[in-house]
Amino acid sequence: MSSIGENGADFLVVANRLPVDLERLEDGTQRWKHSPGGLVSALEPFLRSHSGAWIGWPGVADADVEAFEEDGLQLHPVMLSSAEVRDYYEGFSNGTLWPLYHDVVAPPAFHRRWWNAYVRVNQRFADVTAKVAAQGATVWVQDYQLQLVPAMLRELRPDLRIGFFLHIPFPPVELFMQLPWRTEIIRGLLGADLVGFHRPGGAQNFLWLARRLVGLEPSRGAVGVRTRPGVVQVGDRTVRVGAFPISIDSAGLDALARNKEVQQHAKQIRNDLGNPKKILLGVDRLDYTKGIDVRLRALYELIADGRVDPGEVTMIQLATPSRERVDHYQQMRGEIEQAVGRINGEFSTVGHPVVHYLHQSVDRRELTAFMTAADVMVVTPVRDGMNLVCKEYVACRYDLGGALVLSEFAGAAAELTSAFLVNPHDLDGVKNALEAALTLDPAEGRRRMRALRRQVLTHDVDRWARSFLDALGTQTAV
Ligand code: ADP
Ligand code: G6P
Repeated sequence: MSSIGENGADFLVVANRLPVDLERLEDGTQRWKHSPGGLVSALEPFLRSHSGAWIGWPGVADADVEAFEEDGLQLHPVMLSSAEVRDYYEGFSNGTLWPLYHDVVAPPAFHRRWWNAYVRVNQRFADVTAKVAAQGATVWVQDYQLQLVPAMLRELRPDLRIGFFLHIPFPPVELFMQLPWRTEIIRGLLGADLVGFHRPGGAQNFLWLARRLVGLEPSRGAVGVRTRPGVVQVGDRTVRVGAFPISIDSAGLDALARNKEVQQHAKQIRNDLGNPKKILLGVDRLDYTKGIDVRLRALYELIADGRVDPGEVTMIQLATPSRERVDHYQQMRGEIEQAVGRINGEFSTVGHPVVHYLHQSVDRRELTAFMTAADVMVVTPVRDGMNLVCKEYVACRYDLGGALVLSEFAGAAAELTSAFLVNPHDLDGVKNALEAALTLDPAEGRRRMRALRRQVLTHDVDRWARSFLDALGTQTAV
């Protein structure tokens, strides 16, 4: 796509995290490991297949790391002090914005100290980017942690073409209006040439706020998916505002699922579980928005009602540790572990727990094997910008086997309409959907999976990135 010349990079991704996290081991050595979360899962394969630079935090406090190259990707670490990790990352990003943007499912906290750190750190990201970007480069700023960067960067480098994409939902205006710094955030985003959301509703909310809070005159027509972006004139610039649903490396995952060793591993997983009749699978960051509690409660009740036989059904829940020092996360971890303990305590037999709960992250091959082995993938977030796990499951099921239970409140539900769609607040509805998926007629299952795969395989992450970069009007688009 582009090259990194002596005069800087001409295509740059700016995200809170680098695609790799620095891990400090007990023996004093350190190593790099894959970073958690959907943003990295989606963008990394795209960026690795093109050349470019990635600016981000290496995931630990006070790590002063020089820029380095990895597999053709230029990585530029941005240092955060431990106070900034507390106030900017755990505080404003994940204690204020994350819950506010996810329908206030947990109460957001508003602290001026956190906000001040957010401003300071956003300025640092903008400063580093301004230094690394070549004349006229394209800069693609990512996600809620960096919403002030577009305007800050434009101030420093008006020659750049700047795109911004929000990976989480953009909230209803009534909720956004709670934010004491709401105008600053909207002005920050308006520094971009193109502001992208997963869904047209997010774009529409943003346009409304640009009118209400900044006094601009945005277009009034309905925003389409990948088409008909809204426009708003900011001085002599035109900012476009569109919807670009993100996706995954569908073909890569499909190929991995067909790999003989992965298939063997999937068989091994079934064997290790004692060959249950049905396997349910959940795969999430351990986050209170993911509705892990919802699916555990539904399973508990189904067994208690005698609708599911615990001798025949096993559930695996993989939960990547996440944001472990933030209050709501600690509290939710306790609740989930208690719910797992309750199901296993009441319904397991020796050697055969009903729920296998792993508070761990697994590698891509192993994850593919789990998805291949699972009869029912359970994705029940109370709110999720997109949710990639459900798309990954579909990409793995080249055999047209398996069934997907998916929350209506995940962005992916708009595309994956052949899933068993559920309202995660309606426990009876979730129970009915789980039961239907567990007893699904194979021919009907294949029909549904074929339709799901048609969508996921034709709408992959490459198409997402291309549609965004085309709309940004960059010469670097593939
Ligand atoms: P989020 O970005 O909120 O974490 P997504 O569903 O969009 O949610 O993306 C999560 C990504 O992290 C997916 O690529 C998924 O496969 C991966 N993931 C989640 N949990 C695990 C786990 N326990 N082990 C390995 N990968 C995981
Ligand atoms: C979501 C967010 C990303 C974030 C990821 C992991 O995908 O949209 O911005 O990187 O979760 O969360 P973390 O706080 O560990 O970076």
